[in-house]
Amino acid sequence: DLAPNGCPISPRAAAFDPFDRPYQLDPAEALRWSREQEPVFYSPRLGYWVVSRYDDIKAIFRDNITFSPSIALEKITPASKEAQAVLERYDYGMNRTLVNEDEPAHMARRRELLEAFSPEALEAHAPMVRRLVREKLDAIVDRGRADLVDEMFWEVPLTVALHFLGVPEEDMEQLRRFSVAHTLNTWGRPSPEQQVEVAEGVGKFWQYSGEVLVKMQRQTRGKGWMYDMIEKNRQKPDVVTDNYLHSMMMAIIVAAHETTALATANAFRQLLSRPAVWDELCDNPELIPAAAEECLRHSGSVVAWRRRATREVAVGGVTIPEDGKILMVTASGNHDPSHFENPDELDIYRDNAVDHLTFGYGSHQCMGKNLGRMEMRIFLEEFTRRLPHLELEEQEFTFLPNTSFRGPEALWVRWDPAKNPERQDP
Ligand code: HEM
Repeated sequence: DLAPNGCPISPRAAAFDPFDRPYQLDPAEALRWSREQEPVFYSPRLGYWVVSRYDDIKAIFRDNITFSPSIALEKITPASKEAQAVLERYDYGMNRTLVNEDEPAHMARRRELLEAFSPEALEAHAPMVRRLVREKLDAIVDRGRADLVDEMFWEVPLTVALHFLGVPEEDMEQLRRFSVAHTLNTWGRPSPEQQVEVAEGVGKFWQYSGEVLVKMQRQTRGKGWMYDMIEKNRQKPDVVTDNYLHSMMMAIIVAAHETTALATANAFRQLLSRPAVWDELCDNPELIPAAAEECLRHSGSVVAWRRRATREVAVGGVTIPEDGKILMVTASGNHDPSHFENPDELDIYRDNAVDHLTFGYGSHQCMGKNLGRMEMRIFLEEFTRRLPHLELEEQEFTFLPNTSFRGPEALWVRWDPAKNPERQDP
């Protein structure tokens, strides 16, 4: 069999399927063969060109004209007829936001909306993050055992995200379900029956986002990034368009909370499975920011991102035809030994951890990265101080099957409440 560029497809490339177990369990490991032998290959099962090496991925991120981000939020599995009908019933019209907008529209828009991400603006959210984490910790501290994902890793980032956006903190459970539907809809491979259910969730999410937006537009301007957007939409409707507002309302709720929730769960899993490293953080909390960064490299919450070739172009010596769809497995790039020494080791002293690709790179690089980092840092600070004797329970981790968003669905930990430091020194 031949790839669209006329070259033969190797057996491993033919067999690759990101929805199979190996990729779902450990995407970087599942692509080790590719990093070593065939760093750019066509996957007939996916219909994408898969890119697995650090330098190639970075080169793609760097050139967003040749490599358009327009397909970043496209359904990776096309909708069935039935699912399409459901989406149409909800008048679903998710289109361009920031992350999937081409130039020059993207930069014009991004520039208008940067203010909310200044270091001072972000620092203003820190006390709330700490208060939320503390309250959640208070609720479990005497219990001795908890699933941290269920108890707080999803809810705190969601609350922070809504606060950052200025969106009312209502219907949290519903928003969590909506986000799962959005992830499956965008990056999953739902079965024909699941497709309809997922489309219902996505349709309702679209409707909900529209309703919240209208409510916010009618009010006097409040605090939050969505209010900034509404204001810019009034001033410069050709830059911050109406459809952008509605699409962004839906996409950003997910972008700002799932990513951080999953990253936090990944970090706790990695650190707690290395008790010596965890103890080091408990003794030296100033190491926490570097540890969080290394966790983002080693086990990021976004593991793959997409681009479309706008012309025929060579990547790593392989010709990708015009319109070729590309899956950059950033998790694989983050484990590329040509950039990271002993890449599979979690080394909190690594001096180039920050070069990781988990936030993307270049002109679309994650705008919320410092908010995500701050939340991870505060979670780690509070836990290492209040529950330094925390232990990871023996467990099978499960993941929502999809190409891009990754983190355990549950994270069971235990500790002995009698040994809580707060108890010992009153
Ligand atoms: C874009 C990851 C948290 C807002 C992105 C991209 C990735 C990403 C991979 C695409 C980058 C590219 O194309 O080069 C993450 C991860 C997070 C996180 C791993 C947490 C650990 C957040 C938060 C917010 C946010 C908390 C909002 C408050 C955005 C926005 C963009 C973006 C607005 C689009 C930027 C643009 O296209 O110009 N993020 N994100 N993210 N992220 Fe995040």
